[in-house]
Amino acid sequence: MTGQSKKKLLVLDDDAGVVDFLCESLSELGYDVTGLTAPREALLRIKTDSFDLVITDVEMPQMRGTELLSAILGEKPSQLVLLITAFGSIDLAVSTVQAGACDFIAKPFKIETLVSAIERAFRDRQIRREIVRLRKVSPLDAPEQIIAGSPAMRRVLATARKAAGTDSTTLITGETGTGKGVIAKLIHDSSARRDRPFYQLNCASVPPTLVESELFGVRRGAFTDAKEDRDGAFVAAGDGTFFLDEVGELPLEIQAKLLHVLENGRVRPLGGTSEVPIKARLIAATNRPLEPLVREGNFRQDLYYRLNIIRIEVPPLRERREDIVHLLDLFLSRACERQSRSLIGVSAAAMRRLVAYHWPGNVRELANAVERAVVLSDHDALLPEDLDLPKNGGVEALLAEGADSHIPLEEIERSYVRRVLEEHGGNKAGAARILGINRRTLYRKLKG
Ligand SMILES: Nc1ncnc2c1ncn2[C@@H]1O[C@H](COP(=O)(O)OP(=O)(O)OP(=O)(O)O)[C@@H](O)[C@H]1O
Ligand SMILES: [Mg+2]
Repeated sequence: MTGQSKKKLLVLDDDAGVVDFLCESLSELGYDVTGLTAPREALLRIKTDSFDLVITDVEMPQMRGTELLSAILGEKPSQLVLLITAFGSIDLAVSTVQAGACDFIAKPFKIETLVSAIERAFRDRQIRREIVRLRKVSPLDAPEQIIAGSPAMRRVLATARKAAGTDSTTLITGETGTGKGVIAKLIHDSSARRDRPFYQLNCASVPPTLVESELFGVRRGAFTDAKEDRDGAFVAAGDGTFFLDEVGELPLEIQAKLLHVLENGRVRPLGGTSEVPIKARLIAATNRPLEPLVREGNFRQDLYYRLNIIRIEVPPLRERREDIVHLLDLFLSRACERQSRSLIGVSAAAMRRLVAYHWPGNVRELANAVERAVVLSDHDALLPEDLDLPKNGGVEALLAEGADSHIPLEEIERSYVRRVLEEHGGNKAGAARILGINRRTLYRKLKG
């Protein structure tokens, strides 16, 4: 026999008329149906034969559907059983699902309702079979749980540990959401300063007019708003670590003052007369690469050299896809715990999508996508549609989608060319160089 084999169903109801009707309707729809009216006989058949799905009435004189259910599952624990309940016995139905039935439908029902319940049962089983067994996250020796299984991240951790053994100024770079904050904290927590303060200042979230006093402190009366003395970040960090985040956002004149402070090892608050020695260790971070800013004259070169003593580059998530599964495992268990749900799995299709996506927002985007998917999902596994990831993200995703939906190579090429062009702010010469083609070819490929 060729083609897909028919699904074998067993229909059980004490009403022979109902059995006949269901057998006839379901056979017409292409199922291989056996109809029975006696539960004991059904139980025997289930033992000796194998059915893809058993559809049974709950209320029967000989044996209640619930007893039958436990007898079936006692015999065949993974047997799919769909229950038909009388209207008004929903509580019973719910408890039977909890007892292991795959679903129930209430009488009276339309045949289409039954068919969709049957199909759903098969689909859910397929999903369960496809669930990717996620490995348990192994407790890493890092204080917080930092996932770093990929060679690239292991190198990052190794450099971070070395940095922790020194007092040298450290510059952490990497796209948004790659984990720069996590690495800064790791350095502090693994350093001799771990019991001292960890003081963080984000230059992007402080208005430019206030950055100066936040950094260096202010003495009462220095300007109209300065109603009292306030310590700046360098003093607040004491002999701990000062984490200066988004350093690329610092206005040029403050950059000059910062350099002066770092060179002298002393800080003078605004409006103050005396200088205070600084003892804090400085870690700076930025998601804007500083080198182009230096070239454009928007970041002081001398300050750049002063910060860039130990350099840690946190790679984007798409360059360390091995980490995705482990991060997913961590975020999934966190999200389920937070939302008081039992742990759910990930369908193979969703996993393919997660691994192929290009993650412009990196680890943070993954964490948010998982959290949202757990809220939206009402299955026991995440499906691709729960993830709600933008389409056509990344060439790998494009290729994965292409394989599923038969996209012509030309179209994949065109989308990729467009993406490279977008990433380079529409700079055609730059995009052509990266793609290894000349500009004329680039135009041609864009037009398609
Ligand atoms: N390797 C990792 N293991 C576990 N969690 C991580 C890892 N990297 C990042 N995270 C988590 O991802 C989120 C983003 O990380 P973080 O805030 O450190 O990124 P960032 O690079 O500082 O981003 P931004 O540039 O926007 O400031 C945080 O919730 C963090 O806990
Ligand atoms: Mg950060």
